[in-house]
Amino acid sequence: MRVIITVDYKEMSKKAAEIVKRQIKERPNTVLGLATGSTPLGMYKYLIEMYKKGEIDFSNVITFNLDEYVGLSAEHPQSYHYFMFHNFFHHINIKKENIHIPNGVALDLEEECSRYEEEIEKAGGIDLQILGIGVNGHIGFNEPDESIDTKTHVVTLTEDTINANKRFFKSADEVPKKAITMGLGSIMKAKKIVLLASGKNKAKAIKETIKGQLTTKVPSTVLTLHPDATIIIDKEAASLIP
Ligand code: F6R
Repeated sequence: MRVIITVDYKEMSKKAAEIVKRQIKERPNTVLGLATGSTPLGMYKYLIEMYKKGEIDFSNVITFNLDEYVGLSAEHPQSYHYFMFHNFFHHINIKKENIHIPNGVALDLEEECSRYEEEIEKAGGIDLQILGIGVNGHIGFNEPDESIDTKTHVVTLTEDTINANKRFFKSADEVPKKAITMGLGSIMKAKKIVLLASGKNKAKAIKETIKGQLTTKVPSTVLTLHPDATIIIDKEAASLIP
């Protein structure tokens, strides 16, 4: 696993955007795995700027988002559908039919999970997966547990995650208790993985991730087994690395 430490959030975001740009230049029909949350927002801003300058063409790019809350429709302002369109997709020339996000209001959630997993396979798998990391080491919404779910599945969010995400809602009570997430196997099948982290509150999870001990209690540790994983973190997120 490669670790790149940057001076700040801005540099982290710029480096990540450069990697995405290079990937799309090399392969215009790249399949990107994307994350929501605060961390990748800077990267999305840089990618939009690059698109506006004519440096990237998203017209053949295919995307798969990691996760979506169960019970929130695409129009709900806190849904990950809304987040992605508002912060990224509306500002670039991606085709709507090339965008994939799990449907959190599907009548049959199990079927939706299988469908999503099949769609990823049909697209030929993910070329470049962008990840954030939870304070508890979750990636996607794969929460610390006794065992690992490899495929896209429905997950019950932990208290840690509900508390961390309540900042986007009026109160913790409004945070959905369940989500659909790509599994750790779906993520690990990506040809290339880039994990981003910024800030002191991520320092412990980052330290655990790179210390070289695999545990389902810190799901991100699975990345140590990936042949092409890079972690780009700012100084604060790197502050507990010995
Ligand atoms: C989001 C996702 C989550 C976040 C993580 C960090 O699609 O899969 O794993 O990446 O919760 O969130 P932020 O960036 O808001 O700290």
